[in-house]
Amino acid sequence: MTGDEDGGSDEKARLRETFDAIASSFDETRNQPWDDVAEFVDGREGGVALDLGCGNGRHLPLLRERFDTAVGIDFSRSMVALAEPPVVRGDLSALPFRSSCADLALCVAVLHHLPTRAGRLSALDEVARVLGDDGDALVSVWAIEHPKFDGVRDEIRAAGGDHHVPWKRGEEERDRYYHIHDRASFEALVDDSSLDGTVWDSDGNYYARLRPTG
Ligand SMILES: C[S@@+](CC[C@H](N)C(=O)[O-])C[C@H]1O[C@@H](n2cnc3c(N)ncnc32)[C@H](O)[C@@H]1O
Repeated sequence: MTGDEDGGSDEKARLRETFDAIASSFDETRNQPWDDVAEFVDGREGGVALDLGCGNGRHLPLLRERFDTAVGIDFSRSMVALAEPPVVRGDLSALPFRSSCADLALCVAVLHHLPTRAGRLSALDEVARVLGDDGDALVSVWAIEHPKFDGVRDEIRAAGGDHHVPWKRGEEERDRYYHIHDRASFEALVDDSSLDGTVWDSDGNYYARLRPTG
């Protein structure tokens, strides 16, 4: 199933336009790697790494210090233009990479933007497909416990996790779609995918270190 077949294509198209529009202001504030990402890649060496939904490419230098090849992919043309090449434009639901080509994959703060559970699941299955047997992935999503959701948590739960978060810069305001997970829904998503591993929470995010179930 692709992103266009899973019922969320309008929401996804709006999100892509939003990321195109906000890319340069996103780039002003998102330039440091997250600690959990740095810890995940620490001690790794050689091989191929993929940054899936790489945004402005803030995690690519970390990967390139350690891996022979590190490629980013993002569906926003403006984000791809900001990231240091090699970076390709493409969608998580159909990754333009060979099966078993990667030793490591990052999918940081991206999965929660996919508007349907079927889409999120097929994205995780795509991660499993591109990882070699010994490969592993770090996947993160925003957690419902994030302080950002104080005051709207009940509303989010009532909506089944679907939520729009405004991006404000000066006069401009745009909504971005998020599926906000609690631990149970994130673990259930992982359980239903072709990946397996452990979930933890850190700084308002759930992280999972995952390997293909094989
Ligand atoms: C919040 S940003 C995170 C970027 C980067 N991973 C980071 O940690 O800074 C989310 C990114 O995911 C991209 N994205 C969202 N849905 C996507 C999809 N279906 N396929 C590819 N990229 C997607 C957006 O364009 C945006 O650059």
